[in-house]
Amino acid sequence: MAKILVTGGCGYIGSHTIVDLVQNGYDVISVDNNSRSNPVILKGVEQITGKKIKNYKVDLCNFDDTFAIFQENNDISGIIHFAAYKAVGESVENPLLYYENNLVSLINLLKCVQEFRIPHFVFSSSCTVYGNPDEVPVTESTPLKPAESPYGATKQMGEQIVQDFAKNGTTSCVLLRYFNPAGAHPTAAIGEMPLGKPQNLVPAITQTAIGRIGKMYVHGNDYPTRDGSCIRDYIHICDLANAHTLSLKHIEEGKNKSSCEVFNLGTGNGISVMEAIHAFEKVSGVKLNYETGPRRPGDVVAVYANNDLAKNVLGWNPVFSLDDMMSTAWKWELRLKADETVFTSQPGELN
Ligand code: WQD
Repeated sequence: MAKILVTGGCGYIGSHTIVDLVQNGYDVISVDNNSRSNPVILKGVEQITGKKIKNYKVDLCNFDDTFAIFQENNDISGIIHFAAYKAVGESVENPLLYYENNLVSLINLLKCVQEFRIPHFVFSSSCTVYGNPDEVPVTESTPLKPAESPYGATKQMGEQIVQDFAKNGTTSCVLLRYFNPAGAHPTAAIGEMPLGKPQNLVPAITQTAIGRIGKMYVHGNDYPTRDGSCIRDYIHICDLANAHTLSLKHIEEGKNKSSCEVFNLGTGNGISVMEAIHAFEKVSGVKLNYETGPRRPGDVVAVYANNDLAKNVLGWNPVFSLDDMMSTAWKWELRLKADETVFTSQPGELN
């Protein structure tokens, strides 16, 4: 059974990907320093899969501690690298924190990949690398525009680092450009656990609906779009997770055409903020308390994917709808409220 190291395994995308990997026969370990995540989420993974996942509470910016994980696990056949900071606004306020954390951790990891000759490496990238595209949908060949934030710049640089690393080595790499992850596992055993006030749209919606936030704001309704609000490509977290398993299989089976391939992971459907809000109100039956506020600096007007490559090459087939995203996100928010004591521990408290 191939052993996969998932970095950021206690995070939103990491935990859902671990579920998909285990359900597809992989043995998985996690490394996550829990600075932005809560290890309690792995109990939810165990509830779904029946597997207890070991997490190494290590900061990947510490090379020696990272190296020690590989010394202890000499049977790692692949790595999926999620661990990074990802708050666009915070990255603007504190760029050095983002460049150091997101790039030093990646470089340390790749040094270990090189030293231990790990054959497969999947890198968590983002549609943010496209900046404000001139036309949509974007394909993997769409020229990258200047990043709108230091966060986006770390993803552009991260892609370049992995590409250059792959050229010289024997490791097959895949870069996955996520659009907007949303929703939760249908069991509501795992889901998104934003720290503090959520920046992303869907948790802002569900926290407003449940009363954790009094009112949410639509960041601008005067954009040149069909209803004036920004357009994004929301992708269900379980569809996104499955794409990682398929990416690993793709390179394990030697189907990759180059040492580093790129795939867009979006549904290809552009959805406006208002359409997302109305979808939530429809599936939840909850009238959302929101009003229109000023535009948010750094927001792109519209970005959504051409996902033909992932579909045709990886055999990826996203199955969850926007309604599924909203209903599973709402079910998870209700679960968080019902089991508040379980989930309100500080990150890293539970081991
Ligand atoms: C979506 C739309 C907001 C909250 C970012 C990163 C991306 C990925 C996902 C990490 C925008 C609007 C939001 C609110 C609102 N991050 N909105 N009111 O900015 O497209 O993408 O997060 O992987 O890389 O760039 O996602 O969910 O923050 O915003 O009106 O309370 O919802 O203005 O138009 P975004 P988002």
